[in-house]
Amino acid sequence: MGEFKNKWALVTGASSGFGIDFANILAEGGANLVLAARRTEPMEQLAATLRAQHGIQVVVEGIDLAQAGAGLELRQRIQARGLQVDVLINNAGYGTFGDFAERPLETTLDMLQLNVMSLTELTHVFARDMVQRGSGHILLVASIGGYQATPTYAAYSASKAYVLLFGEALNVELAPHGVKVSVLSPGITATNFLAVSGQKSTLYQRLMMMRSRPVAETGIRAMLAGKASKVPGLGNQLTIFSNRFVPRKLQSFLAYQLMKN
Ligand SMILES: NC(=O)c1ccc[n+]([C@@H]2O[C@H](COP(=O)([O-])OP(=O)(O)OC[C@H]3O[C@@H](n4cnc5c(N)ncnc54)[C@H](OP(=O)(O)O)[C@@H]3O)[C@@H](O)[C@H]2O)c1
Repeated sequence: MGEFKNKWALVTGASSGFGIDFANILAEGGANLVLAARRTEPMEQLAATLRAQHGIQVVVEGIDLAQAGAGLELRQRIQARGLQVDVLINNAGYGTFGDFAERPLETTLDMLQLNVMSLTELTHVFARDMVQRGSGHILLVASIGGYQATPTYAAYSASKAYVLLFGEALNVELAPHGVKVSVLSPGITATNFLAVSGQKSTLYQRLMMMRSRPVAETGIRAMLAGKASKVPGLGNQLTIFSNRFVPRKLQSFLAYQLMKN
């Protein structure tokens, strides 16, 4: 999908879930890749497969993006290799499930550092380079959780609301500079998300569960088309659409019910 020959794409969160699919799709389009996440072993395995299958160059960067300044450090490492990032897939992120007041504060702050601060920093450092060159693509992974308050995922859904509004605004700001910015807002998808968040899947989630590859493809297509925002899957689109006719208080009540087992 798409034509990425001789381009370099940075995929964050490339050790699992959507990140692996993004890496595969971009590699199929001929992109060279920088894979970034904490666990290097799964990324090294993916890198070896993609090099063999597509004859592309792949670099693996083990980095904890929830550390302050990690975005800048990653850019420095990439620059030191003499590479420039043409495509940024800002995908690394996680959720933490449970009542806000009962969850450890450190977990919530770590999540916000990754989902919000690091994503913003990475977008800033690479968008500046792209603006200077007059070209580039950026995809931000939000969530349908960003469309309404979601009790038991209070801070997570708020972090994704940030990503959604941030990306939609940048889509307008950066378009005149030749940089396309898109936001992908998936619903529940079969990755490690629930295992990491600590939630047992609910009936609603089992009914709505999508496979990650088609979701990632939808994101790449939206990014290539310069779409501001994309929600993958008809069920998710209907959920978002129906929100328009439901008072906000009722939206969060319903979201709360749907998160319960
Ligand atoms: N799956 C869903 O239902 C769903 C729905 C909506 C939105 N999303 C969003 O999709 C994105 C990808 O998640 P996923 O569903 O693919 O889950 P996943 O399978 O758990 O993958 C998450 C990725 O993020 C990386 N990551 C986590 N903490 C990190 C850190 N501190 N530094 C660097 N990388 C880190 C993980 O790598 P390491 O652990 O190796 O660091 C992993 O590669 C997230 O932003 C998530 O919020 C997912």
